[in-house]
Amino acid sequence: MLASDPVDIRGEKVYEGKAKALFRTENPDVLLMEFKDDATAFDGKKKGTIVEKGYFNAHISALLNTFLEDEGMPTHYLGTIEDRYHLVRHMDMFGLEVVVRNIAAGSLARRLGMEEGTVLPKPVLELYLKADELGDPWINGYHIAAMELCTPEELASMEAAAWEINRLLSGRLEEIGLVLVDYKLEFGRDPEGTVRLGDEITPDTCRFWDSVSGDKMDKDRFRQDLGGVEDAYREVLTRLERGRA
Ligand code: TMP
Ligand code: ASP
Repeated sequence: MLASDPVDIRGEKVYEGKAKALFRTENPDVLLMEFKDDATAFDGKKKGTIVEKGYFNAHISALLNTFLEDEGMPTHYLGTIEDRYHLVRHMDMFGLEVVVRNIAAGSLARRLGMEEGTVLPKPVLELYLKADELGDPWINGYHIAAMELCTPEELASMEAAAWEINRLLSGRLEEIGLVLVDYKLEFGRDPEGTVRLGDEITPDTCRFWDSVSGDKMDKDRFRQDLGGVEDAYREVLTRLERGRA
């Protein structure tokens, strides 16, 4: 159905974000998602390039999406071509970010004055509006209803999926010596009305800490100028590939 060379099937660009771009293909139900090496942090105030990030993230996200699909979680992922492109289902994205946190870090630690590394007795789920110009504000179900971003049933389905993903991913990562500290998910509605996981699952969008050393193995190395950014992304991919059954 589709050629294996993205250049042949790359149609009009429909979206360009900081780390990814989306293109139409000859099939209206399928988009091509490009993983770029560009990295930003703090709402784009810090900019840089992480060498080969597109390659690492495309492969990490492919493995984790495939793992979730195999466990029965609907995702947008259809396949990988040419190392840094995913074929994904064309969905209506809800324009929301669903963040789940198991350990205090980042904005939660800052906002609530918690020490980074504090294990939360109960994990936390937060909702943010995806709007760069507003700095991705923190919102709740009432805001979502008022803005008609999705139905209450769709929000419930996203929250249930986010918790199930927490259980599945935490277990998978534990097997390869990584702690899932927190992560951000984005969901959409496919043409049949099914709520599916979209976007990416990578060290750009999750915090992974090494279970033994506690070392940060994610984009915090870039955000905090810790060095060893590429090595951390490569190590996450290597462990996932090695741990594949
Ligand atoms: P935070 O602590 O900065 O709120 O981030 C929580 C998690 O969400 C962390 O794993 C990084 C991820 N994240 C994104 O993927 N995109 C974003 O724009 C932000 C702010 C966080
Ligand atoms: N991706 C966001 C930005 O560009 C935030 C982050 O990941 O830290 O600012």
